[in-house]
Amino acid sequence: MDPIRRSITLLGTLPVIRLDHPERDALPLADALLEGGLPLIEITFRAEGAEKAIAQIRKHRPEMLVGAGTVLTPGQVKAAYDAGAHFMVSPGLNRRVVETCLTLGTAVFPGCMTPTEIETAIELGLEAVKFFPAEQAGGIAMIKALSAPYRTIGFVPTGGVTLENLADYLRCPSVIACGGSYMATPKMIEEHNWRAITEMCRRTVDIVKQVKG
Ligand code: 3PG
Repeated sequence: MDPIRRSITLLGTLPVIRLDHPERDALPLADALLEGGLPLIEITFRAEGAEKAIAQIRKHRPEMLVGAGTVLTPGQVKAAYDAGAHFMVSPGLNRRVVETCLTLGTAVFPGCMTPTEIETAIELGLEAVKFFPAEQAGGIAMIKALSAPYRTIGFVPTGGVTLENLADYLRCPSVIACGGSYMATPKMIEEHNWRAITEMCRRTVDIVKQVKG
């Protein structure tokens, strides 16, 4: 198995982060996640400067696995790659984005929510996809239905995942990890509420341990 997929599977969860002040907040945020037991982060291109945050964390917190999220264009793939991102996540399946990742040898989890999109991902050689937006697209029932024909595909459901439904998703054998912004919301980051972020990560890690052992 791809080592990035293996690490994400072991951690079972993927904090999805929007950083409005990347230079100021990247390291304290990374420390809050680490303190909570999560050496893993997805920094989204929903705010300017995502690549700066990625580069800072890669340089100063080398123990962390750092992904780039909301990657919409080959240009963003390249910026994230140059900043040192270990993997890429996108909300939809854009062939050019996926192909750029494959050319660079970077793991990529494109968002898929239909059989056709999953088949395109398989055709491109992928073995795992983001399932987005998870709750709105049918949640666990939809993942179970999709897993019947696509037995080897791993899913990273994201969108509407919370502490309340996390265990239900993780119990599904085809779910490798769940993504979510609830562990570090823009409000928690804006208020520099690092303790709350650490606490949410700890509670998440406890649920992952309970379900995955
Ligand atoms: C994403 O960018 O992957 C999702 O918007 C995160 O969804 P959430 O905010 O519902 O966790």
